[in-house]
Amino acid sequence: MSYRLFVPVLLSVALASAAPSPTPNPNNIILRDLATPRFFGAAANTSWLYHDKNYTEVISKQFSIFTPENEMKWENIEPEPNSFDFGPADEIVSFAESINAKMRGHNFMWGNQLPPWVNTSLTATELDRALQNHITKVMDHYRGKLYAIDVVNEMISDNTPNETFKDNIWTQKFGEDAVPKALTYARAVDKTPKLYINDYGIEGINSKSDTMYNVVKGFLADGVPLDAVGFQCHFGLNQVPTDLQANLQRFADLGLDVAITELDINLGAAFPGNATALAQQAQNYWEVVNACVSTNRCVSVTVWGVSDDHSWIPLGNPLPWNDIKQPKPAFFAIADAFEGKPEPSA
Ligand code: XIL
Repeated sequence: MSYRLFVPVLLSVALASAAPSPTPNPNNIILRDLATPRFFGAAANTSWLYHDKNYTEVISKQFSIFTPENEMKWENIEPEPNSFDFGPADEIVSFAESINAKMRGHNFMWGNQLPPWVNTSLTATELDRALQNHITKVMDHYRGKLYAIDVVNEMISDNTPNETFKDNIWTQKFGEDAVPKALTYARAVDKTPKLYINDYGIEGINSKSDTMYNVVKGFLADGVPLDAVGFQCHFGLNQVPTDLQANLQRFADLGLDVAITELDINLGAAFPGNATALAQQAQNYWEVVNACVSTNRCVSVTVWGVSDDHSWIPLGNPLPWNDIKQPKPAFFAIADAFEGKPEPSA
């Protein structure tokens, strides 16, 4: 290179490295790659998969694990006794296979989204048979296709320490045996999927997470099959507990995997979100993903949806993609956290 060419080239290189880095081109950021060896996931929904082009484009590119948002819940998959409708859940499972992504099953034992026949007049013996049959048929159908299953969802009480488990059909019929029953039935069908207990309000160190901690510690001591705990992480703006990582760590130290299973950050009063609110939201996403990345046994971060227009939270704009599926500051903050940056760069 001649001297006359060399100097301007050198100068522009020097200037480029001194200038603040421009916003990276989002087309070149693939969160599922940055998350490796962890998984980056989304709740997937058949209402939009293949029906909303931009949604389908984002979901096909960015994620390595999926949870069906509703399609495997009892009311949808076994609406009548022993009559199963696997169609919608199958659609998500096939989609995941087609892009080499994993699946989290969701869920078997929960107080919500139950069909009336389960939630009413069965005797304890009948409900026990129904539970075992449900778990067995669903796990048989998806044998070899599920990486993990939220066997138990939201069963810890909100009135700890006075009460351990929530009052619902399961605890009404089985008392404290409810949760071990579901886990034992699941393990008996298939030893491969990681069996999870999943809950909300257990993200920080508090009375509810202490209760969860004691419950799972007791299960491990008693030989109840359990592989992992899922932390939902439905947060409002600036509500990420500062001890999230320490809390994940104490569960991991019991020998369990941990996962962020339903992350979203509801803007609440800051809806629809000016630049300041979106930057705070991004910071909150960074905090959660960073807590997972800092925990050896944290295997995945799953966001509960993809874009704000299809979120389960109306008027919350809680997700990393906006209504028109453009990446928000939260998207770049997730990338930063997976890359190990000490704070969001935007
Ligand atoms: C929500 C879905 O997102 C909604 O579409 C549905 O109407 C209600 O359930 N905790 C859970 C998820 O474990 O299954 C819930 O999903 C959100 C709260």
